[in-house]
Amino acid sequence: MSALSCDTLLESRARRRADADEDSPENFSEATTPRPAWAAESPLLQAEHVTRLFGPEQGCQDVSFTLYPGEVLGLAGESGSGKSTLLAALSGRLLPEAGHVRYHDGKDWLDVHAVGESRRRTLLRTEWGFVEQNPRDGLRMSVSAGANIGERLMAQGARHYGKLRQAALDWLRHVEIEPARIDDTPGSFSGGMRQRLQIARNLVSFPRLVFMDEPTGGLDVSVQARILDLLRNLVRELKLSVVLVTHDLAVARLLADRLMVMRRSRIVEAGLTDQILDDPQHPYTQLLVSSILKV
Ligand SMILES: Nc1ncnc2c1ncn2[C@@H]1O[C@H](COP(=O)(O)OP(=O)(O)OP(=O)(O)O)[C@@H](O)[C@H]1O
Ligand SMILES: [Mg+2]
Repeated sequence: MSALSCDTLLESRARRRADADEDSPENFSEATTPRPAWAAESPLLQAEHVTRLFGPEQGCQDVSFTLYPGEVLGLAGESGSGKSTLLAALSGRLLPEAGHVRYHDGKDWLDVHAVGESRRRTLLRTEWGFVEQNPRDGLRMSVSAGANIGERLMAQGARHYGKLRQAALDWLRHVEIEPARIDDTPGSFSGGMRQRLQIARNLVSFPRLVFMDEPTGGLDVSVQARILDLLRNLVRELKLSVVLVTHDLAVARLLADRLMVMRRSRIVEAGLTDQILDDPQHPYTQLLVSSILKV
């Protein structure tokens, strides 16, 4: 499927900005972690015909879209449809066999797969975030919660111990973890707390772009609801751009401005989330939507 229509994008961006302007942002320790003023108008990420197949219809093929600053793009589809493969290709972890992914770093367009390993690693530790489904994969389990949060700031050059610790304390509060747990390792945290810590670790550097792979997938429903609420607030307050993988359309409805529905490696439907969920066009999307309405 080709890139989404310009009107759809503009409508979505206008809606997001209007939403964001209603809330006054909390104080996110801007003194210790200044937030750069990014160019608001140019796109942030562009995928063109991205293809990576492990077998027939296994992986992703011919995926194109444009992501603008402040947008949350949901990616939904059944297990095995290729969501994680696409996310890995978008974030540079996996080399596509065809197509391109370009990221605008505020100055230039970078080809995500041509920039070189060290630049890509730096991006993943600074301007980008990656929230893994399993927080174990996104945390360093052997170091304290505070060190987990401070690490990204250090990658950006922060060295002052007092400021790093203050930023970690602030972020523990933002994600509703008792600040007294700052010196504990994630091994002593519950699954929900670990996921909160992973979110703090990723967002402390005020990334411009965050990839999330089923961020609430492995959690109890009540824990899930609180984390989704937290994510929704943070996404708005920090005006994050997010590519969010979920198999759960209720999660997509809550967080995503736009939605792409994936089936057997291809995008079968894309558009505004509310529109797709209220009036799905593709038979597969209709099936997905009717199955959540039944529960
Ligand atoms: N490294 C790999 N080697 C071989 N096959 C792979 C590899 N990674 C993914 N696949 C296959 O590609 C297809 C898509 O997998 P992927 O993990 O992207 O699906 P998904 O939509 O994320 O599923 P889930 O919702 O279960 O996480 C599957 O058939 C999977 O077996
Ligand atoms: Mg997956």
